[in-house]
Amino acid sequence: MGFSVTVLTIASSKGGPGKTTIAMVLAASLAAEGRRVVALDADPTQAFSRWAANAYEGAKFEVHAEADETRLAHLIDRAAGEAEVVIVDTAGFGNRAAAVAMTSADLIIVPTLSGEADVTEAEKTVRLAEGLARAARREIPTAVLLNKVRRTQLTRHATQEIEAAGLPRLQATLSDLVAYGEMSYSGRIPQTGPAVAEIAAVLAELRARFGLPG
Ligand SMILES: Nc1ncnc2c1ncn2[C@@H]1O[C@H](COP(=O)(O)OP(=O)(O)O)[C@@H](O)[C@H]1O
Ligand SMILES: [Mg+2]
Repeated sequence: MGFSVTVLTIASSKGGPGKTTIAMVLAASLAAEGRRVVALDADPTQAFSRWAANAYEGAKFEVHAEADETRLAHLIDRAAGEAEVVIVDTAGFGNRAAAVAMTSADLIIVPTLSGEADVTEAEKTVRLAEGLARAARREIPTAVLLNKVRRTQLTRHATQEIEAAGLPRLQATLSDLVAYGEMSYSGRIPQTGPAVAEIAAVLAELRARFGLPG
């Protein structure tokens, strides 16, 4: 594979599609595999860093909360020199730190829910990523990740909308499962049940298609 991911940014213009949840799952899973992970929390609400400091009980990784875009840009570069994988959790934008984190990324994951408005927001985020990549005159692979999926007509519709808009997406999806919500209190990523296989499928696809280490 000719490329490898060091900086993985989770971004969406909208609040609530699961950015922080996915950042938790990825950081904890990769740390559990023995990867050197640095997580950067660029959301001023600091949900990720509070979780890491107060609830998280898995394999250790380093966490920095930094919502200031100037400092974040330097911090990402430094973290990329030290870690195998840097996971950046962002706020919904209108937020410059999110744009910095997207511009610095080797891969941008755009979580989305299945509603029509959600998919429209995901498209906006992908178009921003494309624009930032053009401005930087390099490729920044970007993929939509359908989250809180229920096996309904709505999800099928969302998948069609994403494809009709030509948005790159992961085949893997995450279901609407209590286990993901519980993580924020238990401090542990799911160890049993269907979430385990879903998380493994996301990681496998990120490795096969996007050069995630491992
Ligand atoms: N796949 C899922 N199944 C069930 N609940 C989820 C899932 N993904 C996220 N959640 C819950 O949805 C809420 C919003 O998720 P969060 O990760 O905070 O979104 P964001 O960071 O994008 O604002 C949280 O309460 C979280 O626990
Ligand atoms: Mg969040």
